[in-house]
Amino acid sequence: MAEAKIIDGKAFAAGLRSRVAQGVADLKKSHGITPGLAVVLVGEDPASQVYVRSKEKALVELGMNSFDHHHPMDMSEEDLLVLIAKLNADPAVHGILVQLPLPRHMDTTKVLAAIAPEKDADGFHVVNAGLLATGQKGAIVPCTPLGSLLLIRDTLGTDLKGKRALVLGRSNIVGKPMAQLLLQQDCTVTVAHSRTADLPGECRRADILVAAVGRPEMVRGDWIKPGACVIDVGINRVPGAEPGKTRLAGDVAFDEAKLVAGSITPVPGGVGPMTIACLMLNTLTAACRAAGAPVPAEALA
Ligand code: GUN
Repeated sequence: MAEAKIIDGKAFAAGLRSRVAQGVADLKKSHGITPGLAVVLVGEDPASQVYVRSKEKALVELGMNSFDHHHPMDMSEEDLLVLIAKLNADPAVHGILVQLPLPRHMDTTKVLAAIAPEKDADGFHVVNAGLLATGQKGAIVPCTPLGSLLLIRDTLGTDLKGKRALVLGRSNIVGKPMAQLLLQQDCTVTVAHSRTADLPGECRRADILVAAVGRPEMVRGDWIKPGACVIDVGINRVPGAEPGKTRLAGDVAFDEAKLVAGSITPVPGGVGPMTIACLMLNTLTAACRAAGAPVPAEALA
């Protein structure tokens, strides 16, 4: 059998970003509004600093406002809640992102609940999770699952009816919303996790396999149904070929999987670039809703 098609998330994300930039320019022209995202970072976690910087850079590149709020590790939860209340009330702020993980002395659930749902650019608020789970309009959808779905639809076509989908991982950020999105597409969805019996067997039945467990190369080639579409959400740093060097690995053993799958996302260059592009899309969507302008999300995606 031929090797899998490598799904180019970087190229798809670049296209989406340029469509979002056009949407931003249109909103400025029609309503005089520049979409703005407040990016809140507490502490100095190096990975979080890298993520936050790339989000802020993307906002500026696409013509949006980036309101940066970087605070030291010892910021109190009370002060963070006061900041969020201020951002909720600020009409120039259309989206709010609080970078996770938060320091241990903070209650993440409480902090996320304080964000106004219509400004929740990450889609982590229970109101947005509930709107998505009940299939209602107006949900802001978490960026990584949204980006994954866009890649799946671009690869397999928009009719996913009746396909068997296996989501490996049950996090609130990826696994659960991913399962909801695939269910909305009329897939038959299984959510597997660390306690699932016969994980390889479950995976082998899947036409669409989304791996989001954060365990490097856990999904082996012989876990994959021949021809399946494999979406690898994992970004794991592992020891590289040379001593002292590291490399990025997904949750899927790529070299084995590409010999069996029909299509597969690489790591890096697959889902990763889609997450930021979808954050830009969510920010534009929130700004359009706030302005009473048509929401271009469907057309852009
Ligand atoms: N930390 C890891 N991924 C994410 C994400 O998508 N959003 C936020 N806010 N924090 C994260």
